[in-house]
Amino acid sequence: MGLEVFDLKGKVAIVTGGSKGLGEAIAIALAEAGADLSICSRHKDEVEDTARAIREKTGRKVQAFEVDVVQKDQVEDMVERTITELGKVDILVNNAGYGRKDPMLEADDDYWHYELDVNVSGPMYFSRAVGRHMAKRKSGKIINLGSVYSLIGSNGKAAYAVSKGAILQLTRSLALEWAQYNIQVNLICPGPFNTPMNAPAHAKPEVMAMLREKIPLGRVGEPEEIGGAAIFLASDASNFVTGSILSVDGGFVAQ
Ligand SMILES: NC(=O)c1ccc[n+]([C@@H]2O[C@H](COP(=O)([O-])OP(=O)(O)OC[C@H]3O[C@@H](n4cnc5c(N)ncnc54)[C@H](OP(=O)(O)O)[C@@H]3O)[C@@H](O)[C@H]2O)c1
Repeated sequence: MGLEVFDLKGKVAIVTGGSKGLGEAIAIALAEAGADLSICSRHKDEVEDTARAIREKTGRKVQAFEVDVVQKDQVEDMVERTITELGKVDILVNNAGYGRKDPMLEADDDYWHYELDVNVSGPMYFSRAVGRHMAKRKSGKIINLGSVYSLIGSNGKAAYAVSKGAILQLTRSLALEWAQYNIQVNLICPGPFNTPMNAPAHAKPEVMAMLREKIPLGRVGEPEEIGGAAIFLASDASNFVTGSILSVDGGFVAQ
């Protein structure tokens, strides 16, 4: 088996939350491996700028959509337009997500529901819309973004941990349900990465010192370090891998 099993030429991928952070890094990695893309975020100008930059860097087709993953109609429209304009969807990356501290004794109900909606319902809407298309084609790859909090509890971010535990179970359940259609569904669990979501926390020297202490490799991840895991799970190299967890966390949950 040669390196061609990692080749994504001729494939089409959707990456949610592709305008920045890990989603942007995953979109770049998939395009560099040969895939054409549709990416989305809630901010039209930002997602269009990122799409243009990826087109210029890789020469691939990259479409930008202003979509909120909790809006089912917008999700279904993006999937339909991708199929019409790029021909099909081979790969879905459910990356868009959000999390913040919200200690339970003062927890905000609206925030609880919003968190579960963005981190669980959004991936479900995208998976279902893309899954119907993939099932007919008897082929597909779905990659969900979990977290270390898919696997361990969080002290202060319960809603986030609950949502990331739920996406692990969505991953395993869809892997079982859709194995008959040759759709592989897997979960990447990142540890702390340098992304816009973490910028405020990472600006504090005491937080960075604590993270360096806690992470066995002694540092946080850089966004481009997620790319190889995404290419693996998007490509033929992972055709016998489904319902699995790939931690990219510097050893965080190994301890
Ligand atoms: N960074 C880490 O350390 C880390 C660790 C573990 C897990 N993760 C997970 O990895 C994923 C990406 O995290 P990140 O750090 O790259 O986040 P980020 O820097 O905040 O970027 C999030 C991306 O998702 C988009 N987005 C957020 N809410 C959305 C919505 N409702 N609909 C559509 N797009 C939306 C954002 O664009 P707009 O805001 O413009 O919509 C942006 O493109 C998330 O699922 C996160 O939970 C991250």
